[in-house]
Amino acid sequence: MAKIVSTKPLSVAQREKLSRLGDVACPPEGRRFSQEELFSALHDAVGLITFGTRVDEALLEQAPSLKVASTASVGYDHFDLAAMRRRHVLGAHTPHVLDDTVADLGMALMLAVARRIVELDGYVRRGEWKKGDEEVLYGVDVHHRTLGIVGMGRIGRALAKRAKFGFSMNILYHARSRHDDVEQAFGARYAALPELLQDADFVVLLTPLTPDTENLMNEDRFRLMKRSAIFINLSRGKTVDEDALVHALREGWIRGAGLDVYRQEPVPPNHPLLSLPNVVCVPHIGSATRATRTAMLDLAIDNLVAVLEGRPKDAYIVPELKDLVEEG
Ligand code: DGY
Repeated sequence: MAKIVSTKPLSVAQREKLSRLGDVACPPEGRRFSQEELFSALHDAVGLITFGTRVDEALLEQAPSLKVASTASVGYDHFDLAAMRRRHVLGAHTPHVLDDTVADLGMALMLAVARRIVELDGYVRRGEWKKGDEEVLYGVDVHHRTLGIVGMGRIGRALAKRAKFGFSMNILYHARSRHDDVEQAFGARYAALPELLQDADFVVLLTPLTPDTENLMNEDRFRLMKRSAIFINLSRGKTVDEDALVHALREGWIRGAGLDVYRQEPVPPNHPLLSLPNVVCVPHIGSATRATRTAMLDLAIDNLVAVLEGRPKDAYIVPELKDLVEEG
């Protein structure tokens, strides 16, 4: 009988959905498979459900029968696409279902940094709030300021909608190509990256991690930003040179930052970023609401089922591997 492996626990309903295809192996509630357990479970598996585990040559070697790796995430930088192509393993991901949830976090981080929510929460709790304190509590406005979105996909559009219609912001965007729909719907203006960095009050990074976007935000680019600007990263940690970001924040090249992603996750507790008062850090929670994470896992399961039932066109196959479906 065919076998499906999930690196994380599945609910009874999720296991039932998969069991029509074969045996299902997943760790018990509250646990993840160790690499050894995973590799051993994979030796006769045709399908893998993953949550960020690297699907590379080392894993694929242990899974000679694998037909599909389905990740419960929209990002798939943990897929070694060349290795998957060589072995004709399809990769699927979960676009759409998380767009609004990630865009909500983008607004939350912009507001938290601009209005110094975390810093001032500590101030109140430590009993430091005194009568007459006025200017020490000031932040900066979000409404009517200029938002620069780098990477204009579905999440970028969801963020632009909130910023434009909720906060009357002006929208600049930079992407590989221009998007008429975005310009019409949100009055957004396309800008080259240097121009966007120079003009925006808030810069939000939403690009996928690719060889072209690795270290996209480096010292030169942080130096282009306004001293009053706020930087938000919702993409992947490796899109940012973190040493340069620390300098930018310490030396006042920019006002502050809100970070959901880091080069190393979990970020080490002694990381210099964590000692800076002008940074709000959250632990890669862009899509982390119960409803959205459930929808993502359900979609990852549907993708896997579609591929294994011979309907790969009904699955969200990652664009770089779509031609494998067309080849049949
Ligand atoms: C994704 O889906 O890629 C997100 O980063 C996970 O929260």
